[in-house]
Amino acid sequence: MVDHRRINESDRMYLSPVFLRPGEATSLARWEIADDMLAPETAYQIVHDEAMLDGNARLNLATFVSTFMDKHARDLYAETVDKNIIDKDEYPATAAIEERCWRIIGNLWNNPDIDNAIGTSTIGSSEACMLGGLALKRRWRERRVADGKPVDSPNVVLSTAVQVCWEKFCNYFEVEPRWVPVDADHLVMDGHDLENYVDENTIGVVAIMGQTFTGLFEPVKAIAEKLDEIHASTGLDLKIHVDAASGGMVAPFCHPDIEWDFRVDRVASINTSGHKYGLVYPGVGWIVWRSVADLPESMVFHCAYLGGNMPTLALNFSRPGAQVLLQYYQLLRLGRAGYTAVQQGALDVAQFLSSQIAALGPFDLVSKGDTIPAFAWKLKDGYTENWTLYDLEERLRLKGWQVPAYPMADNLADMTLQRIVVRFGLSHDLAESLLADIKTEVAFLDSLNSPMRREATGTHFHH
Ligand SMILES: Cc1ncc(COP(=O)(O)O)c(C=O)c1O
Repeated sequence: MVDHRRINESDRMYLSPVFLRPGEATSLARWEIADDMLAPETAYQIVHDEAMLDGNARLNLATFVSTFMDKHARDLYAETVDKNIIDKDEYPATAAIEERCWRIIGNLWNNPDIDNAIGTSTIGSSEACMLGGLALKRRWRERRVADGKPVDSPNVVLSTAVQVCWEKFCNYFEVEPRWVPVDADHLVMDGHDLENYVDENTIGVVAIMGQTFTGLFEPVKAIAEKLDEIHASTGLDLKIHVDAASGGMVAPFCHPDIEWDFRVDRVASINTSGHKYGLVYPGVGWIVWRSVADLPESMVFHCAYLGGNMPTLALNFSRPGAQVLLQYYQLLRLGRAGYTAVQQGALDVAQFLSSQIAALGPFDLVSKGDTIPAFAWKLKDGYTENWTLYDLEERLRLKGWQVPAYPMADNLADMTLQRIVVRFGLSHDLAESLLADIKTEVAFLDSLNSPMRREATGTHFHH
């Protein structure tokens, strides 16, 4: 975002097309719309060339979001870019496919009665989490109003290591976050001390399947068992929303025995990012509620002006429909066998990389990449005063790899982590090149005899 208080003349510099087309403008203002038209070839080339300066998406090991889809998916994308998901009356086939998708996903999450469930696509997990949080809040409010109790101070219990979307939810929708800190013995929220965080104003508990910082799973079943104890001793009957942004499309295929989903009675709703391990380009997310009773009817809008009477449940209105079609393509194309092969392949590459990185010497693994295919490590205590993981991040960037370093969540914010997210498209062969580069750069950093010491840049780990 441009800070307009800090613009100086050089920021206003002109873009200068150099493509030698007759009549081509030789300069263009950066922040003013031009008076004249440009030839489409010139406009295309300018945008194309600017975008060229972005990093190479396939070497971006910071993001969980898909950077590879096959040619048929790309064809489908190009054919369907003009569809707006909200025009359900005009695009009934897309609307029907959206419903098929959330039902398929709800079934993957062992919903016991999918005909009595409800779900929707969203622009990503952030919107899905907001809807999940809002449904918990509204249900809490309805119960409190019915009991004649005050409704002015809702709170939600969640780990300090949640993704930033939950901080947004609390901030935007005025719900007090009751942070359960991570510490050396509890890298994830596991139910310990939960009784100290909940009270009659608690709208629910958020559990994460695939902690953004480390990839670790929170033990949803253990959290639910703790809530059962709290229920028995206090009468507080609390539901769980599972933020399975990453794990929601890995666990059903690679960890079928972990009970984290609708098999756990207290789980009211689950979200995932279709554009993460759902294997679709950004942006599509999904949320499914256990039953219609878990989603207050007052949150559903009935919209008539586009024709028909269309129920809508979303923060956005217009949004691309193509990603929903791409999700259906992947579900059809891959099936269980394909998703299992892709995710297991990524898990294998992640564990190959983590074991090799652990063997290098300077690093301790914080996670191994055996939950979702993402893992993090830290520098061994006392290994060196001369360089940090921020330096290694910078050195790897010189080779095109984006491997972010960042502080762990509170109360472990003085621990610096570095993380690799393995996705479809990071082959074993590419992983070996990355490993060779890590070895070279560690040797380079070790050869320095004066401290480099970089600070956190607070960049992209929140993806
Ligand atoms: C656990 C978790 N929740 C939510 C999100 C936000 O997802 P999205 O980028 O799909 O909005 C992320 C993104 O990394 C995440 O890891």
